[in-house]
Amino acid sequence: MKIGIGNDHSALEMKAEIIDFLRERGCEVVDYGTNSTESCDYPVYGEKVARAVAAGEVDQGILICGTGLGISLAANKVKGIRAAVCSEPYTAMMARLHNDCNILAFGARVIGPEMAKMIVRTWLDTEFEGGRHQRRVDLITKIEEENA
Ligand code: RB5
Repeated sequence: MKIGIGNDHSALEMKAEIIDFLRERGCEVVDYGTNSTESCDYPVYGEKVARAVAAGEVDQGILICGTGLGISLAANKVKGIRAAVCSEPYTAMMARLHNDCNILAFGARVIGPEMAKMIVRTWLDTEFEGGRHQRRVDLITKIEEENA
């Protein structure tokens, strides 16, 4: 699986740990930055990863900022993106099973690296269930299309 990853200045150490973890699991990782500790604007990196996922350049995305909120809000403005902030594995599992989310977001100032790895593992191991959930995801897409 090919994963695009992006972050702001608050999440450099966390990103490094997650990239190592992903590579150990055999994932290909594309790093969309930032790679500087200088204060930056999280929407820039949220958009980069979201566009890469929407264009099919990568299979899924991971976004990390201080809380996971700002960067996921930015990503969710890109057509076709369903980004979910997950601070524990149950939500990560449901975000894949029921919501077919294609971007996982979390906060480097909210959770530690071991919890983050557990969330990423759960995310990668869980497939969308389809069925009645497909209908609901299609309704989300319909809202997006009506507002285009
Ligand atoms: C940066 O200080 C912080 O606002 C950002 O990382 C994030 O938490 C925004 O949602």
